[in-house]
Amino acid sequence: MRRVCYLLLFLSCQFVAVGQIVLEDWQFKTGDDSSWADPSFDDSEWARIKANVLYENQGYDYNGYSWYRIRFELPSSMREASYLQDSLRIFLGRVDDIDETYLNGIRIGGIGTFPSADGRGAVGFYDKIRRYVLPWDHQAINWDGDNVIAVRVYDGGGGGGLWGGMPSVGMVDLIDFIEMNIEISGFEQGPDNHYIKKIQLTNSNAEPIEGTLTLEVRDREGARVDQVAVELSIPPAEVQIQSLHFRQIDHAKVSYVFEEKHTGKRLSDFQYTPYILTPPEKLEPTITTPSVYGARPGNQFQWRVSATGARPMTFGAEDLPNGLVLDQETGIIRGRVMAVGDYRVAIHATNSHGRATKVVTLKIGDKIALTPPMGWNSWNAWGMLVSDEKVRESVDGLVSSGLINHGWTYINIDDGWQGERNDDGVIETNDKFPNISALGDYVHDLGLKFGIYSSPGEMSCGGLVGSLGHELQDVRTWASWGVDYIKYDWCSYSDYLLEEFGRNQSTWTITDQVLPFRDIADAIDSTDRNIILSVANWGMNDAWEWGDQTRGQLWRTTGDIEDNWESVSSIGFSQEEPNRYSSPGGWSDPDMLVVGWLGWGENQHQSRLTPAEQYAHISLWALLSAPMMIGCDLSKIDPFTYNLLANHRVNAINQDALGASARVIYHEDDVMIWSKFLETGERAIGVFNLRNEDRDLTFPWSVFGVEKPQHVFDAWRHVDIDQDEDFRSRIVAHGVELLVLR
Ligand code: GAL
Repeated sequence: MRRVCYLLLFLSCQFVAVGQIVLEDWQFKTGDDSSWADPSFDDSEWARIKANVLYENQGYDYNGYSWYRIRFELPSSMREASYLQDSLRIFLGRVDDIDETYLNGIRIGGIGTFPSADGRGAVGFYDKIRRYVLPWDHQAINWDGDNVIAVRVYDGGGGGGLWGGMPSVGMVDLIDFIEMNIEISGFEQGPDNHYIKKIQLTNSNAEPIEGTLTLEVRDREGARVDQVAVELSIPPAEVQIQSLHFRQIDHAKVSYVFEEKHTGKRLSDFQYTPYILTPPEKLEPTITTPSVYGARPGNQFQWRVSATGARPMTFGAEDLPNGLVLDQETGIIRGRVMAVGDYRVAIHATNSHGRATKVVTLKIGDKIALTPPMGWNSWNAWGMLVSDEKVRESVDGLVSSGLINHGWTYINIDDGWQGERNDDGVIETNDKFPNISALGDYVHDLGLKFGIYSSPGEMSCGGLVGSLGHELQDVRTWASWGVDYIKYDWCSYSDYLLEEFGRNQSTWTITDQVLPFRDIADAIDSTDRNIILSVANWGMNDAWEWGDQTRGQLWRTTGDIEDNWESVSSIGFSQEEPNRYSSPGGWSDPDMLVVGWLGWGENQHQSRLTPAEQYAHISLWALLSAPMMIGCDLSKIDPFTYNLLANHRVNAINQDALGASARVIYHEDDVMIWSKFLETGERAIGVFNLRNEDRDLTFPWSVFGVEKPQHVFDAWRHVDIDQDEDFRSRIVAHGVELLVLR
């Protein structure tokens, strides 16, 4: 359940509320000491930290033990004001990865198993809600006095600390037995310009719970444009789904409130309706393929020319190098080129509405991934539940939606495909992938490319077999399956370095970190495939500074991304330094896209980013020349998500052949302006509004580095913008204006 919170009735200017006490600002220290559980311990010298944001996103690049502490008063009036009056609930949100929680020195809960002294055996649950309930007269609770919560945390890798929910303390009341889930559906198109929204309410109480569910719609100016309310009595242990119809308005705020009848306590949540900026695709052909493509001499060559426009369409190419053949119907070019060189090829796409031509340079040499890889990866949608069927569904979605015509190419299976090794040490797939070569063929027949995942350690991050000691053998196996992309993820390689060399993260050398990836790059050289190597170590030890030494084509710069603004903005807007190291053939990778239907497994939901935040996300990734891996279930692609991923002018900024780094040219007053030079000599500019509110922004053009531009183009809407004295725009909360300036 997302962002569900009580509406707070403030008693004073304190954060003490009738409903609950919100615990936002904590004291924090890395390390481990059992005396830090003691309520009388003096933590005043500790650092301050926010509790609902991973500590990596607050400046700590750290794995291992840490403690969070907070002091608060607990008024007995809070208990008296409640209806049930019998239990106290301590809610921490989620803890990445393991916690042990103390109230006034007494252990009240914990999830996961801490590692033994040698660092082994940790079992973490980074995604589980920590909600600890105590009887109101529990000895640990100090009513009408000072209380201290101390949380011992262990983070095994990647993100760490308290996240995913604002911690709070409150009495368990009737409302606590209701769960409101607004994520079981998106905004479905109903009759007469209405949306249908499904809301699921679950009552886990032994008695029925009565109340009112209200849906309210407000436009950008805050005016109420629609409201629907239903009286409900939810029987015990029952799940109810309400379908509410309301007027369809673009970019409106839709609030959902369930008010419990006896206490007036409420659950609330909200979302924004989508709005589409990308204009409809033209019927005549538009070639969306980037102007450069790299492949190695003598290797199997496969490249699909992508173009939008009405079908049927025929393709042609002039001056293809020897060894390549273009299929006129599909636009797929296959073969082998033996001679190193730059080949300028004119590509044509023709249909009954017209003909388009684009000159592209095929660079046959050592470098591949001359523009950032674009494609799909299974992780953010399916996590460890990925299967052959699910991959095929997303491939089919890529084709049927038309995204395939926008250059989305790689179909990458993340963690979750691995079975065991056979007697010869050959890695096999698990039951979810009955015939992986056939899956590879399915992908290649469409002109797409096929990716796989492994780890240099004994185990993958999801606990399946890794490649340690089988590097060359595995790469050859994957090549025989038709693999074009390997994501190689650090995971348990830390254990290997500890056991083998007694080194931990603070004593790893650059060579320690480079070698496992270089081994794979060398093994790739022994195949005849143009395989991209994606280096995944969550950016540890500033991976961007030595990423190119691995001979990989991209390197992760951060922990795992999530579909919330905290995550996307803290990752995205901190990429200026890593981005300096990006150039054709080697890209800093701020992780995959979090738009569309996501869920990392079973609980799929539409991205929790607002529509404006999703525009900002895609725009920033375009400016950063970031690898763009769609992370959603493509069988459920909706018009809004399609509009985000199928804007050929925005994608062209990402795929620009220059591969220039993006620079922050302005950062003040919660506005950030990013700029990137393009191959044409133009500049792509992103003006980001970091505030929680819509704003009218005005800047003299000199802020963008020009006295007066000759031409200003809105990359999302595909319209020219009047060049007034100044740049003026109303930019929505967390939104962006993406321009191309000449
Ligand atoms: C993480 C990685 C994720 C995903 C996951 C699989 O380490 O950052 O992107 O690959 O492992 O277990």
